[in-house]
Amino acid sequence: GESALLDRFGRVATDLRISLTDKCNLRCTYCMPAEGLPFQPADRLMQADEIVRLAGIAVRDLGVRQVRFTGGEPLLRKDLVEIIAAVAGLEPRPEISLTTNAIGLASRAAELAAAGLDRINVSLDTVHAATFLEVTRRPFLDRVLAGIDAAAAAGLRPVKINAVLLRGVNDDQAAELLAWSIERGHQLRFIEQMPLDADHSWERTTMVTAAETRARLAERFTLVPDAAPRDGAPAELYRVLTPDGSRELGTVGIIASVTENFCGDCRRTRLTSEGAVRSCLFSHQETSLLSALREGASDHELAELWRGAMWAKPAGHGLDTAGFVQPERTMSAIGG
Ligand code: GTP
Ligand code: 5AD
Ligand code: SF4
Repeated sequence: GESALLDRFGRVATDLRISLTDKCNLRCTYCMPAEGLPFQPADRLMQADEIVRLAGIAVRDLGVRQVRFTGGEPLLRKDLVEIIAAVAGLEPRPEISLTTNAIGLASRAAELAAAGLDRINVSLDTVHAATFLEVTRRPFLDRVLAGIDAAAAAGLRPVKINAVLLRGVNDDQAAELLAWSIERGHQLRFIEQMPLDADHSWERTTMVTAAETRARLAERFTLVPDAAPRDGAPAELYRVLTPDGSRELGTVGIIASVTENFCGDCRRTRLTSEGAVRSCLFSHQETSLLSALREGASDHELAELWRGAMWAKPAGHGLDTAGFVQPERTMSAIGG
């Protein structure tokens, strides 16, 4: 492409995360309030052709190489297969991945893979029905597990599993969840909770830290940091061995967004479901590409707008600075 998405700190965004909807069929306590949130009217959301046009500009003109679809819950988009097929047809073809809660995936995994989906990450914080209900406020654990099985069967392997540990809720299940994932060949990652919840109930002092997670896992496994380069990935990888270190069982990732932040090597640019660029999860500013597109902007003009938005990307989330203010948008409307 003619020029990449650079920022003032020398970072280059090659990973695009596109939120397809702000709706979700779960109500995870660390993300959405029990009563839900006011959802965007349908005409404010990007339509399939608009998504594909912007993704095309990203890969042809802006150096984006990976496209991840998120939500809300992206499987709630009826046109998801069509969108994936069209993005898979772009030149150069980006790698295509999906972050989902897997509800409804059981019946759609095969067609998504056939359309060009390369990888899948599923949010799952527990394999116990009672804990699942406590975290998500919905009784859908069986549907999620069926969705994960279907993804693996469709060849979307290894399935990555994202788990947020919450103190007093599922933090004592960390080692068990890892054993469960390893048995099935999935790659589990533990994520530190971030202040992106609607209820503003996040507290640094009660958040389960990466160090605490490693200590929990050490009760049942030996963890050895993986030597492979991390390449801008949020997850720090560990090899998982038996307690005596004699046998390798699998790997586990830890996404320590708060205590060991990875902002210095951030490669991400985001589009909200309303078609606005967010340069950072924690941005207070958005730049709408969709309104410019609908007013008739050219590809070149849209690329320029996108570059300008990314140039203004903050150095990092600034959670440890005195002036930190949680963004208005919740995780459910950003897509992680
Ligand atoms: P791969 O490792 O490439 O499969 O993707 P990923 O881990 O980046 O994607 P996923 O959507 O599974 O995100 C997992 C967790 O990492 C989520 O909780 C995200 O919020 C968090 N995460 C992803 N990108 C960022 C980021 O740019 N900043 C921070 N602080 N956290 C992020
Ligand atoms: N902090 C950290 N991770 C979160 N997720 C949702 N809300 C938060 C939060 N406040 C995770 C979900 C999902 C991913 C996209 O983001 O568990 O796996
Ligand atoms: Fe990148 Fe912002 Fe996430 Fe840091 S918080 S890794 S700068 S998106």
